[in-house]
Amino acid sequence: MQDKKLLKVLGGETVPPPPLWMMRQAGRYLPEYRALREKAGSFLDLCYNPDFAVEVTLQPIRRFGFDAAILFSDILVVPHALGRDLRFVEGEGPRLTPISAAEIPRLGEGHDFHAHLAPVYETVSRLRKELPQETTLIGFCGAPWTVATYMIAGRGTPDQAPSRLFGYREPEAIAALLSKLAEVSADYLIRQIDAGADAVQIFDSWAGVLDEASFEAWCVKPVAEIVRKVRQKHPKTPIIGFPRGAGSLYSGYRDKTGVTALGLDWSVPLSQARALQAGGPVQGNLDPLRLIAGGRALDEGVDNILQALGDGPLIFNLGHGITPDTPIAHVERMVERVRR
Ligand code: CP3
Repeated sequence: MQDKKLLKVLGGETVPPPPLWMMRQAGRYLPEYRALREKAGSFLDLCYNPDFAVEVTLQPIRRFGFDAAILFSDILVVPHALGRDLRFVEGEGPRLTPISAAEIPRLGEGHDFHAHLAPVYETVSRLRKELPQETTLIGFCGAPWTVATYMIAGRGTPDQAPSRLFGYREPEAIAALLSKLAEVSADYLIRQIDAGADAVQIFDSWAGVLDEASFEAWCVKPVAEIVRKVRQKHPKTPIIGFPRGAGSLYSGYRDKTGVTALGLDWSVPLSQARALQAGGPVQGNLDPLRLIAGGRALDEGVDNILQALGDGPLIFNLGHGITPDTPIAHVERMVERVRR
């Protein structure tokens, strides 16, 4: 018998009230996170030190009793493990040296990928022991396209113009980069599942900037490769796909990639979400700004989702990550309202 609510939903069951967790639930809106982050020195020290990473992962579980804990790490540890340099600049975000087409064929050569990521696997296996029995442990990776956008531009950009242009000008190079990332990301997820992750999520945060043909080639195809490879080793582990901003391209994504569940951003209309739920579990999709605003905006947002999607397989979540300026009292209010 499955005693984890979230895994029941991923198995297709309707579980009222729905299980909930929040993307970026361990983060700067929590004073205990800020304190530990200061002690660790840098964000990457948090990610690569299992003592810190375990503690940070558990913080939101202790405070709010979410139904899932997500491994504390970052999607950019994958290019880092392939030998690309990576820094997080205070208040600005990630910085990498932009990769050139010429460098792609030898990407990862001379670097021991799994040795670099061993602290992450250690974090997962310790979490599996420390988490309450009923709490689902979610592992994750970035989707190849989203990781590639940071590798190509060297930073976050509003519309990923550098990566789209790179892809149009260098179609073979981008295909090689995405296929390499798909291969190592699948290995990375397999190791997380070996270490004790119950489910995994693939974050394609920049899926929404692409036209239909490039969405198929650069988002759908590499994610389908990851799913196929993970399933060969772990056929039963549920996989959540989150192609943020995919709009009408959400339909077809589950069938084409093979993901178990669809993570929905807040721009997905609830009528469309309802239709997508006919094909299997969905996760989402409260606008994180409703959570900042609180009060009626928050209550209405929660109620609308529960009303539209509550009688099918639903994992309640935000439509994207929680932001640092969110009041903790509003998170408590959301949890209470979803569960009442
Ligand atoms: O959800 C969780 O609590 C698990 C941990 C997690 C983080 N990043 C921690 C983090 C996860 C799942 C991610 C995924 C991630 N990282 C994505 C995909 C999801 C998304 O949000 O779109 C992306 C695009 C990244 C890359 C990244 N990491 C950026 C652009 C930034 C800077 C933006 C920011 O919020 O500062 C990060 C840093 C980061 N990753 C922080 C955290 C808690 C903040 C670091 C800090 O200053 O303490």
